[in-house]
Amino acid sequence: MNYKIAPSILAADWLNLGYEVQRLNASDCDYIHYDVMDGKFVPEMSFGVTCMRPVKKISKKLLDVHLMIEDPIRNVKSFAESGADLITFHVEAAKEKTAETIRYIHSFGVRAGLSVKPKTDVSEVFPYLDELQMVLIMSVEPGFGGQAFMPEALDKIRILREEIQRRGLDVDIEVDGGINLETALRCKEAGANVFVSGSALFKGDLIDNVLAMRKLL
Ligand code: DX5
Ligand code: ZN
Repeated sequence: MNYKIAPSILAADWLNLGYEVQRLNASDCDYIHYDVMDGKFVPEMSFGVTCMRPVKKISKKLLDVHLMIEDPIRNVKSFAESGADLITFHVEAAKEKTAETIRYIHSFGVRAGLSVKPKTDVSEVFPYLDELQMVLIMSVEPGFGGQAFMPEALDKIRILREEIQRRGLDVDIEVDGGINLETALRCKEAGANVFVSGSALFKGDLIDNVLAMRKLL
């Protein structure tokens, strides 16, 4: 299994964003996880494509964009053209446009991910599994960093990994929310292979923290 670490830039020091991206570049992470919130699908607003462009300019890591927005298909083009390497959106937001949104992401040569909130059944992603590069299991209610991990995510990861194996697919399972060394290990054992972490990695020394997570995986 290929294990990947995706620090969430939501937890970075935005007054020193250039420095933070350099530190991410210097660390042993795989992705920069970029959380986009619209104040509708989730209560808060974060940052959009305008803030992503300068990050992309200096980033040596792949950009893992997590769209927590309503009607995500409307914003796919601008994120894809501004350098997103992977675009993940929510099945609860795209609804009947889910298949179309995946195809649209692929039309830009970008990898597609589909996410489920904690209360959504993981089987909601099954109809799209053959087309996806990644499924993102939320282990907190999306919208804020720094929340506690919800252990209900573990069963969803297990069920999903089983289904992926049963179909012989190569789909990453990403987990996001309350991930630290302890919860990452539990999610790894359940079958996750991409780990988003915000507050745990940015508290203290990012490079050391990423290294500690790498060793654990
Ligand atoms: C939550 C975001 C997460 C968040 C994770 O809505 O999707 O990516 O930044 O932060 P921590 O690791 O602090 O829970
Ligand atoms: Zn996220």
